[in-house]
Amino acid sequence: MAPGAAGQDHAGRSMEPSSGTSGWAGHPMPPKPAQQLPREAYVSPEWFERERRLLFGRAWVCAGAARELEAAGNFTTVLAGDHPLMVVRGEDGVLRAFHNLCRHRGTELLEGSGRVERSRIVCPYHRWTYDLDGTLRAVPLRAQCFADLDTGNHPLLPAAVAELGGLVFVHPDPGADFAGWRDSVEGVVWPHRFDRMSAGPEVTYEIRCNWKVFIENAIDGYHLAYLHRRTLGGPRADRNVWDVHGRHLVWYSTETGRKTCLPEAIARSAAGSSARPIEGAESGEYGGVFFLFPSTVVTTSPGELSVSRLQGTAADTCRLSVRVWQRKRAGWERWLGEQDSEEDIKDMPGYDAASGVFRLAHLPGHPLETGDFHWEDVWVCEKLQRSLRSPNHRVGRLAAGPGAEAPLEVFQRNVLDFLTPDQSQMPAAADARPP
Ligand code: FES
Ligand SMILES: [Fe+2]
Repeated sequence: MAPGAAGQDHAGRSMEPSSGTSGWAGHPMPPKPAQQLPREAYVSPEWFERERRLLFGRAWVCAGAARELEAAGNFTTVLAGDHPLMVVRGEDGVLRAFHNLCRHRGTELLEGSGRVERSRIVCPYHRWTYDLDGTLRAVPLRAQCFADLDTGNHPLLPAAVAELGGLVFVHPDPGADFAGWRDSVEGVVWPHRFDRMSAGPEVTYEIRCNWKVFIENAIDGYHLAYLHRRTLGGPRADRNVWDVHGRHLVWYSTETGRKTCLPEAIARSAAGSSARPIEGAESGEYGGVFFLFPSTVVTTSPGELSVSRLQGTAADTCRLSVRVWQRKRAGWERWLGEQDSEEDIKDMPGYDAASGVFRLAHLPGHPLETGDFHWEDVWVCEKLQRSLRSPNHRVGRLAAGPGAEAPLEVFQRNVLDFLTPDQSQMPAAADARPP
């Protein structure tokens, strides 16, 4: 049975709600979900330090779309825990990842993203110079200062790089197992092709909450009908589902009895618009939200695909970078309206010109008045983070159901799996169902 087939989940099980605790007999979610993480996991700098080292330092982190790195010399940089990494396209067309550390005294080599000049990576400190394949090519005053230096022994330190659905993922360990991370979700990823889409600017939000508060909100299907009643308007918890794929989670609306990527209310208003869908993505019978553990969220629809990358910046803050891809328009269509540009985003509510990022505190009015469900989410995440400071904060019961709060337990168990100091490799995905 193909993914998204009517009335069945990805494993061909019936999706019809049954009576009982979860209402979804056979779904691999804990039937009585419970909070797994203590309060300190959301507020403690020590806990966050462990996550940087043991989780993000051993995880696949998204570096953006391969389409953004097509030409030789295209590069981007990304932080995986405490590891600054770079991805760069070689002159031979091969995409490689390296630790973004000079082999002289370790200075960070590249910043942000772009294209390196003359196919050379040049350290700004003393101009040690590397080829795009990481080979150390030149050292200033080599004969005088480094008479016996073997440049062949000083290549950039390799990291791992791989692709899933047109997105590039990197890992600090060059021997990291990508297949084990990818295989569980590869069969259901979005059909969108990046060469049929064009990218809007990357928009960055600084959010005053622990990164897990943001993720847990993103995978909580219980709030959709309530917090977002004036924007998304649902679906209700018994009319959406998160499927478990290894450590990843994939969301569908089930309001119509079929698994589709969009809430019904949004699909109805999209159907009334004249916008043409992205070629290949018209059916809508694929996941609407893909949470790729631990920090990537891909949101899809026939009209667009957005890539959200989350980075914890402290125990109580995180940074979200979002890039939206839309159907590539023909030249004659452009006058109808382009995608947002770098300039346009500066006029959007919440933009802080001083730092170039969006913040809740910079909204001109109340977040619930924006009509934007994303701001509703940020608002509630920041509220929850403030409550978490209270020693009296307790998590009560979690709502049962794969379209309610059961995904939170699955996510928290995955986080806990990584925080075992004596494991050097990424732990294997555990069955989400408790013993
Ligand atoms: S640290 Fe890079 S050249 Fe000295
Ligand atoms: Fe939400």
